[in-house]
Amino acid sequence: MHLLVTGGAGFIGSNFVRLALSRGDKVTVFDKLTYAGNPNDDASFSGNLLDVRNHPKFSFVKGDVCDAQSLLKALQGCDAVVHFAAESHVDRSLETPDVFLHTNVNGTATVLKCVDRVSPHMRVLHVSTDEVYGSVETGYCDEHAVFQPTSPYSKSKAEADKLALELGKNIVVSRSSNNFGSFQFPEKLVSLSIVNLLLGEKIPVYGSGMNVRDWIFVQDNCDALYFLLTNGTAGQAYNVAGGNERTNISIVKELVRLCGRDESFISYVTDRPYHDFRYALSGNKLSALGWRPKHEFSDALQQTVVWFKQFRSWWEPLRNRRYTSINAPKK
Ligand SMILES: NC(=O)c1ccc[n+]([C@@H]2O[C@H](COP(=O)([O-])OP(=O)(O)OC[C@H]3O[C@@H](n4cnc5c(N)ncnc54)[C@H](O)[C@@H]3O)[C@@H](O)[C@H]2O)c1
Repeated sequence: MHLLVTGGAGFIGSNFVRLALSRGDKVTVFDKLTYAGNPNDDASFSGNLLDVRNHPKFSFVKGDVCDAQSLLKALQGCDAVVHFAAESHVDRSLETPDVFLHTNVNGTATVLKCVDRVSPHMRVLHVSTDEVYGSVETGYCDEHAVFQPTSPYSKSKAEADKLALELGKNIVVSRSSNNFGSFQFPEKLVSLSIVNLLLGEKIPVYGSGMNVRDWIFVQDNCDALYFLLTNGTAGQAYNVAGGNERTNISIVKELVRLCGRDESFISYVTDRPYHDFRYALSGNKLSALGWRPKHEFSDALQQTVVWFKQFRSWWEPLRNRRYTSINAPKK
């Protein structure tokens, strides 16, 4: 298959690109290289994809998913699209909701419109999120649960998700839980915590730290996305659950231990607006197709810490680009 991977320079996208290349696919990454795409100094390539840069089946196009002309060109000769490109950080969405709406909603509409012009029945995997369902006190959301997004990020993803199902002719939508793993920009709970701990800095924890998320290792998520790309039924959405429900504080304490620090490195900070209390997915629909995650949570978390210890050269240049205006720890 020749895949066009939008947002393929980002965290999950770059992991997915490695997986697809390892399975023999030809991959064209289409990415604007925002801060999350980790542009090199000359801004023409991504630091997240350096290891595959010279792969014979890999190519890279710097482009914006809101730019139909560039997309139409990049789509020529492709068999399928995996649409990751998005603004993805909830905290940033509180400050620039317009950017989130533009990229996540208009960008998705543009991708679908362009596919329709080039090859209407081309398979598209639209990468959505569990955050579209909003917070659930008890129980688990299946794919029919009502959308109750709260933040500008989740609202933009919910609109994109609905658009994808309405406009896509051969579309499959994935709704994954929180990912962690290699190449995650140091602004999300796991990556920011590890980097701060390795630097001997405090970890900011919102509120009481009792908010609950379901966690999935990025390699398992990418495996599920590849599975859905090839096995999902057109017009359907699938939750990708990790089956690892944890409070934020329990994850942070585990990371403190894995990084050889103590709990004095934990700093509780004022809770953020729209901080949904609990996300919880039912993964039954995907399991019924035969897909299962392969990694055990604690092993995957440890593997992630080892990766960040080993690849300081990857994250050190990013440390000044870390997001700090809201989540800076109190001194
Ligand atoms: N990270 C998670 O835990 C998680 C969970 C569920 C779903 N998702 C979804 O998965 C996708 C990828 O998430 P991520 O964490 O890898 O995000 P990320 O922020 O690491 O990467 C996003 C990528 O999109 C690119 N991009 C941004 N705007 C663009 C534009 N206008 N045109 C082209 N490229 C653009 C960026 O340069 C970057 O490479 C997103 O759609 C996100 O909503 C993420």
